[in-house]
Order: sequence, then structure tokens, then C-alpha cells
Amino acid sequence: MSYQQYDNTPYKESNAAYAESSTGFLPPRGPVAPQKRGLSPWIKFGVPIFIVVAVGAVVGGVLGSRKSSTSGTGNGTTAGGAAGNNGNGNGNGGRPATGTGAGSGNNLAIATATDLLAAGRFAVTTNTQYMVPVYPTSVTNSALFAAPTIAANAATWPNDPFTPANPNPLEVRPDRPRLIAPTYKWDALANLIQSDPYLQGWNETIFGNATAYRSSPMIVYNMDGESGILDNAREFKMRIKAYGYAYRVSRNTEWADRAYAEIEHVTAPGFGPDDDTKWNPGHFLDTAEYAAAFGIAYDWFHDVFTDDQKAYIRQSLVQYALGHGRDVYENGATFGWWRTGINGNWNCVCNGGLTIASLAILGEDDSGLAETLLRLTVDNAKENCARAVTEDGSWMESPNYWYFGTTGHAEMTSALLTATGSDYGMLDINPNYWRTGTFHMYVYGPTSLFDFGDHGPNKFSTTANCMFLIGDRTNHPEFILHQREQHDAAEPWSMFWYNPAATGAFWSGLALDNFFDAPAVQWASMRSSWTDPNALYVAIKAGLNQDHQTHNDLDVGDFVLDALGTRWAGELGSGNYLNSDFFLSQDQDAGRWRYYRKHTAGQNTIMINRANQNVESAPTVQHGSSGTVQGDSTDISIPSDSTAFWTTDMTSAYFEATSVRRGIRLLNARRQVLLQDEVDAQADFQWRMHTNATVTVTGTTAQLELDGETMSVSLLDAPAGAEFSVLPAERQGLEPAPNNPDQENPGVSVLAISVPAGSHTLRVLFNPQWPGMAAGDFVTPPNVPLADWGLRSHD
Ligand SMILES: *[C@@H]1O[C@H](CO)[C@@H](O)[C@H](O)[C@H]1NC(C)=O
Ligand SMILES: *[C@@H]1O[C@H](CO)[C@@H](O)[C@H](O)[C@H]1NC(C)=O
Ligand SMILES: *[C@@H]1O[C@H](CO)[C@@H](O)[C@H](O)[C@H]1NC(C)=O
Ligand SMILES: *[C@@H]1O[C@H](CO)[C@@H](O)[C@H](O)[C@H]1NC(C)=O
Repeated sequence: MSYQQYDNTPYKESNAAYAESSTGFLPPRGPVAPQKRGLSPWIKFGVPIFIVVAVGAVVGGVLGSRKSSTSGTGNGTTAGGAAGNNGNGNGNGGRPATGTGAGSGNNLAIATATDLLAAGRFAVTTNTQYMVPVYPTSVTNSALFAAPTIAANAATWPNDPFTPANPNPLEVRPDRPRLIAPTYKWDALANLIQSDPYLQGWNETIFGNATAYRSSPMIVYNMDGESGILDNAREFKMRIKAYGYAYRVSRNTEWADRAYAEIEHVTAPGFGPDDDTKWNPGHFLDTAEYAAAFGIAYDWFHDVFTDDQKAYIRQSLVQYALGHGRDVYENGATFGWWRTGINGNWNCVCNGGLTIASLAILGEDDSGLAETLLRLTVDNAKENCARAVTEDGSWMESPNYWYFGTTGHAEMTSALLTATGSDYGMLDINPNYWRTGTFHMYVYGPTSLFDFGDHGPNKFSTTANCMFLIGDRTNHPEFILHQREQHDAAEPWSMFWYNPAATGAFWSGLALDNFFDAPAVQWASMRSSWTDPNALYVAIKAGLNQDHQTHNDLDVGDFVLDALGTRWAGELGSGNYLNSDFFLSQDQDAGRWRYYRKHTAGQNTIMINRANQNVESAPTVQHGSSGTVQGDSTDISIPSDSTAFWTTDMTSAYFEATSVRRGIRLLNARRQVLLQDEVDAQADFQWRMHTNATVTVTGTTAQLELDGETMSVSLLDAPAGAEFSVLPAERQGLEPAPNNPDQENPGVSVLAISVPAGSHTLRVLFNPQWPGMAAGDFVTPPNVPLADWGLRSHD
């Protein structure tokens, strides 16, 4: 069982940051970028000019401030410096007097794209629709966009003066703060902020956020059924982190006053039950997130809170959290089910909260509970939480649950490191834990995640910033460089986990394709660029239908497809977490699988006889890649023989079939996609794909229109009578109905092909209508059986 807050909003946020800029043009090969429909003339014509002007500023600013060795970039430095100044001086020149332009409502807290460039960030803006970074186009610079490294002579953090010879979770450093950001880091921060444009931007954003929280009303108690008060807890934690950061930087005690007022508010009579269950231990995530937040507050405000205030926080922690933690570990409390065999976010978040709170009060805790728990939580998290990563890096639950699990893991790891001098193996008891950074990079497409399975609750204090900690601690600077461009990087943990000595471009030398073969979560990631938001991206999965902490769908063969800056084949997301049967079981007849979004019908795969896939699937996969890597440029020129393919034998996922195989490949220098199915079924079956596009079907062709772009889809040499149809994204004719109504899927259609029983091959060709690409530039691939697919089988 696994009860979390239901939320149908995926990770992507809707608050637009900047207008999209038009981006690169990559003739003669590779996808060419479209002009987006509906942009103001200023955006169409103004942004590219700023980019040209300010690219030099990126070079000048970064190289200037970091004093790296920069042979070969002399013209970048000089011309860039001058251009940067110029850009600053008249950056608004192209903007209509009344327009808000690209700067309005920005989420990066620096006013305009010009300022961003002058500040030296690589991504010049954030895409409005998907909140993904937008990089300047056509910039080649072998020094700036070098392979990721930790630069030897760059300004970075001093060494921690606390270096115990024999670290022990019960022996904390002598000074405070002891959690996540010790004094030596605060002391070094101001200088690092001055010399690093990312830290500078995040610092501003955090102050802006803290100011906004301070002028917001106190958190409103909301018990959301089985999902508890998790949103409340995470929102509270988000605020405490920001107030704590603002206080320690500014030394303005008004931040402490507000933090304490919020602390009193969430412990006041009437905020939840007036007994030990105030923080809802029955749904222990809520308790754990409150505990983490109280621990941080106790530690970061330790020098300004009065003794009475600190006693009150300790008392609250003991009564509402740590006592229940002891019940979990020593008294077999049923709400402690997450303690055994849970390789997922529950174990990470619950142990993380108990650990942070215990470390915060250790030495000042009369109850003894902090010590008791620290003897238990660390080993438990190592055996459970740290095992939620497969041998090749996939997160066991789902790509969205990765955020919750890795945030809990990173907070706990960082707190142990700073407070006691060791992580006790949190990062390497599973020797492949670091690979989950690679997983995250590849599971993120040009528009959004390949977000199969459940999406999870609201994020609030949950981010991808573990990428900084993992990248730094395991020497993977590409994780650091990737995450620093993301919109969720601007929060307090980043200020201390980020290593400003990371230099280069995350994409430099990075393969476009990767295949994750661990049997539990087999999947493939293939793309045409790491830096073009209009790039082609195909991701597809097989894997086990069970064993994902009941966050999976019955979705072997499921895929997503991005091109032209939008998502053509996508996911429906979480079901309704409040439905009583939603997490009860993952057996074949479980209620969970009968909801449309979890049923095979709700996936982009083959459904046989309108029935669900077999929960005991065990598919096999094969794949190949040309090994194409991106280089030292924000553009990539794709060689004509560049390709990738992935096939699966997914027969085991079906009843009533002798053989079901699926393969997908990139064609024509990664501009087209072929999806091929070879099905031998004893019942009729359907090929299904969910799309937000407006679909027009004519026999064996379908025209998809979305966000002003077009995708042509054709069914090649179709079996007799097979053609496209458009169906509603709902449970038509599925058996048997679930206990509660399905959620609606507004705007989503199913592009479908209905096929009679028998042995059939379906070949579906996706042709994104790239600007500048003529009809004659598209290829029609030869008909090659999946068994014969290889790198050169379709040349
Ligand atoms: C920078 O130097 C390169 C190589 O010498 C040259 O091709 C390019 O035109 C120069 N760019 C500018 C802006 O001077
Ligand atoms: C923090 O501030 C940024 C920039 O103003 C904004 O985009 C973002 O939504 C804020 N975050 C929260 C959680 O309020
Ligand atoms: C961080 O941001 C705050 C708020 O804008 C500012 O007062 C402070 O000077 C910044 N810190 C540094 C080191 O720039
Ligand atoms: C439709 O668009 C929404 C919002 O961007 C997205 O969350 C969802 O995954 C999309 N659905 C499909 C089937 O692509």
C-alpha cells in the first residue's frame, strides 16, 4: 500500500516564465526548428538579436570571472565583454514600450534575457509551455562548451574543518548550523555568489520567494483523505528553508520571527488533532516532512531562537514525530510499513525526516529519542531507500517519483555528512546509486519527462537538486551542469550542494542515446539534440509490470514522442489516489488496473481483446545506436548514418497471443521515426497512442496538429482493412468497471488501429513536418522483420 497525495498536475508548471524564443536552424541535416505560432513580433525578431549580442557576454562573463585557461577563445573574451556591456546598456531597445517582453514573470529572478546572458548562464531563458531551458543557438566554443570537469583552480568551497577520524552518527560537529550548511559554507558563500552567475540568480530568487511567503497567509490545514496533510507539510518545509536561508544571509531577525510564527501555527490548537497525532503519523510522510522542517529550523535559527522557543521545538518534535518514529522501529507500529522492503520514496522521506530532526537536537534532547533513532534510521535507509535504484540507474517507482525519493535520500545524506562527517554508505552501499543521475538526464525529453507510471503529489520542497549532491560527491560534473540550467535549481539546498568549480557543457561528448536494460525497468532514450527544445525524442519501455511500489501502469511497449517543441504521444499521469482500491494490490484482478489511466488501454501500446496486460510480464529487449554524441556546440550536425533502434519481445505481457514484438527506430538522420509491431494474436487487438493533437484521419494516414505544428503519421503496407481511427481517451467497452469513476482526459484523443485476430505486422511512420524539409526529403523505410533489425538494416 502506498498512499500519497493525488495530484493530476505533472512536474511541469504552468506559470510562464519567458516567452519562447525561436531557436536554431540546422540545415542541411537534423531537425530544423520551427517559428512558433502566436509569438509577438518582438519575440520573433528581438530575441535572436539579443542572443547574438549576448553570447559574447556569456563567454566574457564566465571566462572572465573564472579565470580559466582560455586559449583559442580570445575573440570571445574581448568581443563578448564589449557586447555584453552593450547588451546591458540597451537591451530593452527592441522591446515595444508597452510590452512586458521576455522578462515578465520570470522564474529565474533576473529581469531580462539580456541580463541572464550577461550574467553568464548558458540557458538564456525558459520555455513558456514546458519550463525547459532554452539555449542560444549556433554557438560553438570549445573552451566554454568543453567536456564536463571539475576545474582544478576554480573558486569553490573550502574543505570542511570538521574531519572526525572515526565518524559516528551520534557524534555531531561542535558548531552550528550542523545540517546541510555549516558555518564554513555560509562564510564562503558571499564570495562564491559574486563569481558564479548561477548562485547569483538563485540567491535572488530565494530572497524573492522568501519575501513572497512572508506576505502570504499562514498555511491552511487541509486533511486530504488518505493523502493526509502532505501538501501542508511540504509547503511548510519549503517556507522554512527559504526563511532560514534569508536569515543566515541577511542576519535580519524578522525572518526568524516569521519562521517561529509559522512553527507556532502548525502546532497550535486546532491545526489538526490536539494530541500526539497532530502531524498525522498514520501517513508518515507528513510527519517526516514536518520533522525535517522543524529540524532545519531548530538548527539554522539556533543562535536567534530563545531557549524557550528551542525547548518548544524539541518538545514538538518528540511529541509529534520522534515518539512515533520509535513506535515504527521498536513497537511494530503498522504505520511503519515503509520500514521493510520498501525500495522507494517512502523509505527515503521517512528516514530522512527522522534523521534530520534527530541530528538537529542531538545533545540537547532529554528524551533520548534522537539517539535511539539515529542508531536505526541510517542502516534502514541504506538497505531500502538506497536500493531503489536499479543496476543501471532507473528509479524503481517512476520517473516522477524519482524526485521524492532522491530528495529524501539527498537531504539525509547531506545532513549526515555535515553533522557527523560521513554518509555511512548512503551513496555507495548501492554501487550504482550515482547512475540515477544519468537516468534523470535521459528520462527528460526536450519537452518533459518520459513520465510513465504515477506522477505523485505536489512537489513544493521537492526538486531535482540531488543532481548537485550526487554529481559533486561521485564526480559526475555533467549532473551538476545539467541541473544548474533547470528552473527548479533556485532553492536553498542548491546554494550548498552545487559545486561552482564544475565547468564545461553537460552535453559535450554526451551520447544522444542510452538504453537501460535492468529487467525491472527496461527502457530506451533516443534524441536528436540535447540543447534544441524542438529536437526529436523517443523513449519507450518494457520492464516488469509489478514491483514498482504500485506506481506502475500495465504499460509494456509504452512510448512518448517529442518533436517540433511539443509532445505528440504522451502520458495520462496518475489515477485518483483517493480511490480506495487504487494502491491496494497489484495482482491481475486489482482494482488499480481497471482505471483507464492504469489499464493497458490508457497506454501507448498494443491492447489485445480489450484486456489488460499480464502483470507477470518479463520482456526481453535488444537495441543499437550509432553512438552519436553532441560536441562543443549548442547545435549538432547529425551525420546521415546516425540512428538508434530498440526492440522488445513482449509476448509475456499478453494473454491470447503467440507472439507480440515491438520495435522503434530513428530514420533519416533522426528526423523520422518508425514504430513496428509484429503480433500473432488469437483475438482482435488495437494499436493505441494518446495525443493532445487534433487528429484528422484518412484511411492509412493521419494528420496531427498541435501547438501550431504538424506531424504526419502513415500506416505502411497495412494488413487488409486496417486503418487509423480516432477514439476518445476513455474506457469504452473495457471489462469490468472499477469502484470509482475514471478521471477525464480533456483534450486527449486516441489514435488507434483496430486489427483482427491473426498474424500481422503494423508499421507506423512518424514524419514531423520540420520547417524547410520538403516532401521529397522524407524516406519510406524498407520492410524489415524485427528479428533482422540492425544499425544498417534500413539504410
Ligand atoms: C573568432 O575567431 C574565429 C577563429 O579565428 C573566427 O573564425 C571568427 O570569425 C572570430 N569571430 C569574431 C567575432 O571575431
Ligand atoms: C520563486 O520565485 C520564482 C521567480 O519569481 C517564481 O517563478 C517561482 O514560482 C517561485 N517559487 C515559488 C514556490 O513560489
Ligand atoms: C543575495 O540576495 C540578497 C537579496 O537580493 C542580496 O541582498 C544579497 O546581497 C545577495 N547576496 C550576494 C552575495 O550577492
Ligand atoms: C497533454 O498535455 C498535458 C499538458 O501539457 C500533458 O500533461 C499530458 O501528458 C498531455 N497528454 C498527452 C497524451 O500527450
